[in-house]
Amino acid sequence: MKYALFADIHSNLEAFQAVREEFKKGKIDEYICLGDIVGYAANPNECIKLTRELNPLTIIAGNHDWASVGKTDIDYFNPIAKEAILWTQKELTEENKGFLKNLPLTKEFNDFVIVHGSLYFPEKWHYIFTLQDTKRNFEYQKKKTCFIAHSHQPFIISQDREGNCETVKGTKVSLKDDYRYLINIGSIGQPRDANPAACYCLYDADKKEIEIKRTPYEIKKAQDKIIATSLPQELAWRLSLGR
Ligand SMILES: [Fe+2]
Repeated sequence: MKYALFADIHSNLEAFQAVREEFKKGKIDEYICLGDIVGYAANPNECIKLTRELNPLTIIAGNHDWASVGKTDIDYFNPIAKEAILWTQKELTEENKGFLKNLPLTKEFNDFVIVHGSLYFPEKWHYIFTLQDTKRNFEYQKKKTCFIAHSHQPFIISQDREGNCETVKGTKVSLKDDYRYLINIGSIGQPRDANPAACYCLYDADKKEIEIKRTPYEIKKAQDKIIATSLPQELAWRLSLGR
């Protein structure tokens, strides 16, 4: 069974189209979206349509998805993110608003669980940045692997039976017995790890292998579309920096 996991598309159609082309080559059995289809870039409705076309698909909510339909308070968003949400709210079709409104916060599979931010109070959209955050998430994690997104910064962390956590070097990991894993799958539409290429994750459950993948895309096209709208222009230039 091969899963393609992706998140934080953030209305960036060009990035998502490039990743979808990669999906076609990958013999994917199931698609899993960890939320934040919308917010920041210029094509929210188109990105929802392309996501929903993937089959079979499991999808959960991100903070921007819920904020775009009034289910999450945008007072804690930074001014640029807030402006993008207000723009997105005006763009979204009624049908797509209904779709975003009904997305759940987590989902469990056989040997893994998915959540946008963290397993502790998913509705609070906590970020996992520190070792303390990581250990706290493991306390709430009953499955072998937890996939998260939200920070737009991919990582692979393992935890041994004694509770020691370690960052796995590189972009690939073979899952070991007796270890648990926390994987941040990165962002398709607005990476923030200084690499502007779209980021997603493949999980081969038979081979017990997880890999973080990168795909370059037409950044200029996505930037031009943002510039042509009333969205904050910073949202265009940051795409080429991967910040
Ligand atoms: Fe996000």
